[in-house]
Amino acid sequence: MSVNKEVKRITTHVLQAMKAKGEKISMLTAYDYSMARIIDEAGVDVILVGDSASNVMAGHETTLPITLDQMIYHASSVIRAVKRALVVVDLPFGSYQGNSKLALESAIRIMKESGAHAVKLEGGAEVVESIKRILSAGVPVMGHLGLTPQSIYKFGTYTVRAKEEAEAQKLREDALLLQEIGCFSMVLEKIPANLAKAVSESLYIPTIGIGAGADADGQVLVIHDLLGLTKDFQPRFLRRYMDLFEGIKGAVGQYIKDVKTTDFPNEKEQY
Ligand code: KIV
Repeated sequence: MSVNKEVKRITTHVLQAMKAKGEKISMLTAYDYSMARIIDEAGVDVILVGDSASNVMAGHETTLPITLDQMIYHASSVIRAVKRALVVVDLPFGSYQGNSKLALESAIRIMKESGAHAVKLEGGAEVVESIKRILSAGVPVMGHLGLTPQSIYKFGTYTVRAKEEAEAQKLREDALLLQEIGCFSMVLEKIPANLAKAVSESLYIPTIGIGAGADADGQVLVIHDLLGLTKDFQPRFLRRYMDLFEGIKGAVGQYIKDVKTTDFPNEKEQY
């Protein structure tokens, strides 16, 4: 789908109406102007400026090192490109946990300095005060339950979460709590499909799954994974739609060859 000049913007209310109608929500990450422009023109509903930028843009092993300033830089680049999608920005590690005043200040900086439409943060009951304070300032919040990569050193691995009943029960309770306090949506990451189905059916706000099966109300992938720009990350849930790593490598290889053999530039490519 391409969008014309009279674009109807996606809002948090549109997403909730989509769930009510049974229409699935598409969400992808983007971190820069050029990619955001392509994804928005293609018609994706939500663009997430994820803290996965720490991995795929900066090459860190985890999402922990990325800073609020860096998230704002990525978010403002994305915002300049987007005409239709709802743009949600991750609050990075250390910018909201355990201090609701800090959480509000971080969320306000993101909204004011990047022009984003909403923020996302990880966790349930333990971050409720932070979420409430952000919501009280009129900033829409997307939750994130299941595998929460900012807690990787607590979990120890990136394996499927909430397989045991106690953790599944906490997730069900957290999901209801996030809805009750006013989150407009939530990501469910890497949990059993039947749990994601039950949670999604128990809520009127939409769930967006990643590795959470087909019954979440929408799906999200990291754009670098979908396009095959990342090579070694191969979880079962990932569908690669292109192999851009090899595609770009081939194009660059050809360019190098053309330069070396003086094939490039030719007569038509000079003044
Ligand atoms: O940072 C991110 O890309 C995310 C998605 C995986 C949901 O949080």
